[in-house]
Formats: sequence, C-alpha cells, structure tokens
Amino acid sequence: MSAVNEKKVAALEAVKYIKSGMTIGLGTGSTAFYMIEAIGAMVQNGMELKAVATSNETEKLATKLGINVITLAEAKRLDVTIDGADEVDENFKLIKGGGGALLREKIVAHNSDLNIIIADSSKNVTKLGKFKLPIETIPFATQLITAELDGMGLSPVQRMRGTEDYKTDENNDIIDIDIWNTEIKLTDLEQQLKTIPGIVETGLFLTTTNLVIIGNGENAIVKKR
Ligand code: A5P
Repeated sequence: MSAVNEKKVAALEAVKYIKSGMTIGLGTGSTAFYMIEAIGAMVQNGMELKAVATSNETEKLATKLGINVITLAEAKRLDVTIDGADEVDENFKLIKGGGGALLREKIVAHNSDLNIIIADSSKNVTKLGKFKLPIETIPFATQLITAELDGMGLSPVQRMRGTEDYKTDENNDIIDIDIWNTEIKLTDLEQQLKTIPGIVETGLFLTTTNLVIIGNGENAIVKKR
C-alpha cells in the first residue's frame, strides 16, 4: 500500500479520539493534511470544536474547511493534538520539523493533554537520525551557531528555499544537523543544544507523545506509551 494511503489510514484512526466540545491542536505536514480534512468533514456534520493551528499553512487549510481556529492564548489548554513526524522510534521519541513547523508544534504538544502522532510505516525507525534533525535559530546568530554545531561534529546545513534562506512562520532560520553518529544521549544532546543562545528549539520530541498511530498497509497500528 502506498505511503499516501497509510497516512490516510493513520489519520482516520486518530480522529476517533476527538469528541464534540473539545479544543484540539492541529499538526502540520502531508500526514496532518488528511487528519485536518477528516476533522473538517466532522465539523461540517455538526461537531463543535475549537482548534489551534501549528503553522500558517494548517491555519489556512483548517479555516477553509470551516474549523474554528483560535489562538493558543484563547485555548489555554488543549484536549488532544494530532500531528505527523519525520521519524518515530519504539520509545515514542520523534524527529519533527521537516516541514519547518517544529517550534509551534512543540509548544502545542507541551500544552496538550493527549498527543497523538500519525505516520505511514516508513517513519517507524529503530534508531532516530537518518532524517536530519532540524534546529530553529534566530537569524542574528545562525552563522555562529552553524560554526559551533560544526565543531560538535554535527555537519550542520542551513536550510534554503531556492537561493534564499528558508524562513519559518516566526521568521527564524532552520539548520539541519546529522545526529546519526553522535554518541551523545538524545536527552543530553537536546539539553546541550538548548544551552546555545540563539537556538530557539530543536526537532527532538522526546517526552510529549502519548500515542503513536502507524498506517501499515490497510491497518492502523496503535501504540500507547
Ligand atoms: C512539520 O514541521 C513537521 O514536524 C511534520 O510534522 C513532519 O515533518 C511530518 O510531515 P509529513 O507528514 O509531511 O511527513
């Protein structure tokens, strides 16, 4: 079965956790797209929901589908957030940010009672790091951070859009780093990276995920933490 179908299978399983009256978090990316589409249909069929979007792209899609998008400040706390991932390991640890929305995604996950990750089977890994880890940086510091990460052996590459620097919704930069061969434990790496001034957030999501739903062929595999 194709990755597209597996994404749909996972998304349709995940939206079963959404009940009328909830305030929900909407993730970003091509897997989240199918979840947002399904929620749009649920709203059109009368379900009452409020939603916080993790990116401008998601906000645009959700609004177009008639979903009531509110700010995080208005929501205060979210019942459920459903989001995609670039890699998921068996300990519910993730790499996210391939689509550049890691900062808002991590904030939303932190403020959500239940975090569900949806993915096609190719995202399931035994070890994180084949996918380059995105790091969001303040433009003022990006060049110096790149040099520092290089010194740590993390092969940093600043993300580009054509010939221009890639910019996040917060107008920050992204540096993609290679953590595959690092011997530093992920929790320590996360801590080390966050101590470098100018690094706003990393795409390592180590503690927030409660449920992983993987589309596997025609089936959805649900894993609870
Ligand atoms: C967005 O920045 C990301 O964190 C996405 O959630 C992640 O990249 C998964 O995207 P896809 O579902 O498009 O693979």
